Amino acid sequence: MEKENLPEQTKRLLLAYMQMSDFVKDPLIIKKGEGVRIEDVNGKTYIDGLSGIFVVNVGHGNQAVIGAMKAQLDELAFAPVLYATNPKALELSQLLSTIVPDGLTSFKLFCGGSEATEAAIKLSRQYHRQTGNPLKYKVIGRYGGFHGVTMGAVSATGIPIRKVPFVPLLEGFLHIAPPYCYRCPYEKEFPGCNLTCAQILEDMIQWEGPETVACFIAEPIMNMPGMLTPPPGYLERLRQICDRHQVTLIYDEIVTGFGRTGSMFAAQTYGVSPDILCMGKGMSSGYAPLAGIAIQEEIAKAFWGPAEAKVEFSHAHTYEGNPLSCAAGLANLREILGRKLVENSKAMGEYLRKKLQDRIFPLGLVGDMRGSGLMVALELVKDKKTRERFDPPLGRKIASAARKNGLILRIDPHWIGLAPPLIICSSEIDEIVDILERSIREVL
Ligand SMILES: Cc1ncc(COP(=O)(O)O)c(C=O)c1O
Repeated sequence: MEKENLPEQTKRLLLAYMQMSDFVKDPLIIKKGEGVRIEDVNGKTYIDGLSGIFVVNVGHGNQAVIGAMKAQLDELAFAPVLYATNPKALELSQLLSTIVPDGLTSFKLFCGGSEATEAAIKLSRQYHRQTGNPLKYKVIGRYGGFHGVTMGAVSATGIPIRKVPFVPLLEGFLHIAPPYCYRCPYEKEFPGCNLTCAQILEDMIQWEGPETVACFIAEPIMNMPGMLTPPPGYLERLRQICDRHQVTLIYDEIVTGFGRTGSMFAAQTYGVSPDILCMGKGMSSGYAPLAGIAIQEEIAKAFWGPAEAKVEFSHAHTYEGNPLSCAAGLANLREILGRKLVENSKAMGEYLRKKLQDRIFPLGLVGDMRGSGLMVALELVKDKKTRERFDPPLGRKIASAARKNGLILRIDPHWIGLAPPLIICSSEIDEIVDILERSIREVL
């Protein structure tokens, strides 16, 4: 690769959600990764404060995962799911069954998060259709929720900028307001609010007719609106409402899974299990495309039966459960378990929060700190009393100062987010906070 031609070459690619004319001015082209660090093609190193994008939970250059993948390639690269499976898919689903929240017993494996959320919605619809509730088809999501980019996933998503270019979207997708306590959509305060933001789900189900509502999909911590953590009792209330109306509760744990929030899954952090759990990203730490859904036993049972019953899930992808991805996922999960990375996520998450309180809060611009484990967001405000936001916003400026200083952050106009690999140690967190403080001071 000739360095001088790189900006030209980047013009051939359409990258994610960004103006390519901006990107080519100063493209970040990552060549190498080791531990919590990445290196670009110019030899500049950065701390990966975002694990790629909530993906590289076991860190870069993990030799156990790399070794397992090389060995798998020597043995078998592909097995067709239409009439077979492979030992690695079986081993992975067996190991997954030991770590997922209570009641989830069966798995379907995919290559990406959107495939998982899409399949969860379809599974819920088919389940209701073949268990005596054929009218249940509506999907309720939340404004601010992100569930992927395929037509079902984007219809369930509640973020205008991700949806509006593709309207009309699918019929039967509805949304409720998110549990954003710092800026409550109902202008109430917890606990006096009596969880209006959860109760509103029941109102919507009743207004729509419970016999028409198939599922409710939610990220336990909503990433895109600023790592919104659920207030106490919120997920329990959603669970009760879904149970009362036979609505499938789907958790999108594509960001929050595999140790990110200080438990293996956020369902365990908050003690409330879903009926279907979508996983991806940290499932393979990015070494190979891998995602999946975990399915509650009663739902899975509805897809067992004699051939003439025709109750099989009518859904498949060529690459689902492919041996290479499963080998990566298996080795990744063994690393997470063997090296106690979930425990490290909890301990280092607490350490990070304390450091942020000591070093960043005194700078006077943190309105709210949210998240759990190694998933932390700081909402930035100009005035802490009135919660007035910066205008123009500071997020992007801080992220680019941090990049210049050697730290990759989550960028949003009004909040900054950190989600480093779960292998991180306290001295590396010190480094992150040093760079962040310096970057914020530069911008201020
Ligand atoms: C919460 C959530 N769900 C679903 C997805 C879609 O996953 P993928 O990009 O792997 O299709 C994402 C991706 O960022 C996500 O953050």
